[in-house]
Amino acid sequence: MTRLAGKVGLITAAASGMGRAGALRFAAEGAAVGVVDIDAAGVASLVAEIEAAGGRALALPGDLTDADFSRSIVADTAAAFGGLDYVWMHAGHPGPSRVEDMDEAVLELALHLNLRTIMHSTAAALPLMRERGGGSLVFTASTAGIYGSPHSPAYSMMKFGVVGWCRSLAKRVAPDQIRANVICPGGVDTPMLRAFVARPDTPQANGDKEEMVAARGGKTPLGRNARPEEISNAALFLVSDEASFISGAVLPVDGAMTA
Ligand SMILES: NC(=O)c1ccc[n+]([C@@H]2O[C@H](COP(=O)([O-])OP(=O)(O)OC[C@H]3O[C@@H](n4cnc5c(N)ncnc54)[C@H](O)[C@@H]3O)[C@@H](O)[C@H]2O)c1
Repeated sequence: MTRLAGKVGLITAAASGMGRAGALRFAAEGAAVGVVDIDAAGVASLVAEIEAAGGRALALPGDLTDADFSRSIVADTAAAFGGLDYVWMHAGHPGPSRVEDMDEAVLELALHLNLRTIMHSTAAALPLMRERGGGSLVFTASTAGIYGSPHSPAYSMMKFGVVGWCRSLAKRVAPDQIRANVICPGGVDTPMLRAFVARPDTPQANGDKEEMVAARGGKTPLGRNARPEEISNAALFLVSDEASFISGAVLPVDGAMTA
C-alpha cells in the first residue's frame, strides 16, 4: 500500500475518531505523519502503534487554541521529515448551542478550534509547500457547513467559515500548485457525535445518548452514521496524487444526507 509514498504532513485531532483512523491509514500508505492532539497519552500510543507497524510518525501533543502551537506543529513536522506535502486540519468544536444566553467561554473555545487554528496552520504551511513545489491542504467542515443547523447555529456559522477559507485559498494558492479541499462529514460515530445529539436546548437533551446516536443514523439515507475510516478515506484520496486536479472541492461524506 503506497498511495502516499514519500509524503510528509500532519493531522490535527489525531488521537480519536476520524483523525486517528487517518493517521493509521496514511502511515500504512507510506506517509510520514505528525500526530497532533491535546491528549498526550493518546498521541504517544498512536505513534507507538504506527511505528510498531513499520510506519513513520511524530508525536506533537499540545493545545490548538495556542496560535504558536498551531504554527509550530507545521514547522516541527517539516523539520523532522525534511519537507511538507499535506496538512489535514481536522480539529473542531461543537460550540454553544444556544443563541440567547450563549456561553461565551464555549464560543471562544469553538472559535479557536474551528477557525483560528486553521488560519495559523495554513499560514505556516504555505511557504513550506511552495518550497516543495506544491501540496495539499485538507480541512474538515461538516454538513453544517453546507446547510443551516437549527440546534448548532454557531457551529454552522464557523463551518461555513471553514468552507469559505478553503475555497478562497484554493484560488489564491493554485499558482503555487497547492490544492485546498474541504470534507463535510455527516454523523460519524465518534465521541463528538454524542455532544451533537444531546444539545442542551433541545427536547431530547436528557435522553439516552446511544439511542439518539442510532436514531440520527437512521435518518440518513444510507441508514446509519459513518465509521471514522469512511471519512479518513476521503482525506486520503484528497491528499494523494490521485486528486491532482481536485482543488476547491466541498466534499460531503454524509450517506446522501445533503443530496
Ligand atoms: N463526529 C461527527 O459526527 C462530526 C460530523 C461532522 C464534522 N465533524 C468534525 O470532525 C472533527 C473532529 O471530530 P471527531 O468526531 O473526529 O472528534 P473526536 O471527538 O473523535 O476527537 C476530537 C479530538 O480533538 C482533540 N482535541 C480537543 N480539544 C483540543 C485542543 N484544544 N487541542 C488539540 N486537540 C484537541 C481531542 O483530544 C480528541 O482527540 C471536527 O472538526 C468536527 O467538527 C464531526
